Amino acid sequence: MIDLHAHVLPDLDDGPATLEEAVTLVNQAYHDGVRAIVASPHGFNGLYNVHRTDVLARVAELQEALKRAGIGVEILPGMEVYLNLDLLGQLKLGQALGINQTRYVCIELPTGQLPLFTGEMLFDLKAAGYTPVIAHPERNAQVQAKPETLLRLSPGGWAMVSAPSLVGLYGPAPRRTAEALISRGMARFLCSDAHHLKRRPFLLTRAVQHAAEIVGKARAEAMVMGHPASLLATRGAAVL
Ligand SMILES: [Fe+2]
Repeated sequence: MIDLHAHVLPDLDDGPATLEEAVTLVNQAYHDGVRAIVASPHGFNGLYNVHRTDVLARVAELQEALKRAGIGVEILPGMEVYLNLDLLGQLKLGQALGINQTRYVCIELPTGQLPLFTGEMLFDLKAAGYTPVIAHPERNAQVQAKPETLLRLSPGGWAMVSAPSLVGLYGPAPRRTAEALISRGMARFLCSDAHHLKRRPFLLTRAVQHAAEIVGKARAEAMVMGHPASLLATRGAAVL
């Protein structure tokens, strides 16, 4: 499986604190069946403002440590960029990173009310040639109240449902919403959003099984294989 969204880089955000912890977390991913991870530390969310150079350095450091430990997981660079008014500038200046440095950008929305500039910001990103990919839309209160809200934000299903939401770790509302988005084809990716070995572990296998009960095995597996592979392959190319 390919995981487009996980917090596995050491000492950058609320993911692993040390390189050793990071290796243990990726080892858990390996045993869950994951073979490639886009490391997506929080960017521009007020609490964590990681820099591109730190992401690239930590990715190389972690990949080297995994090689030494004999863990066959490829780590790719990325960032979970919090929706903010300077987002387009941050991308143009290379401060914010796309998924595997493509023009697909993992966007974190607030969990509560969406800011008034949301629609315009997402439109401006698209006009500039970027494709916003909404991280865990099922955790946003407006999407929970009305899943169609996501159609307005991301008409092409460019969204990632999180495994913990789908298996019920965050309670009934995110779970119910995750199920609705998947069953209606409104999110084409399933991601771990893993942060921690125990508190927020890799649960992708369980999540894919759950998704398969809703949309069938082939469509569920495409969410962690074919679809993410197609996105990663656009590195250095145009959008899909
Ligand atoms: Fe995340």
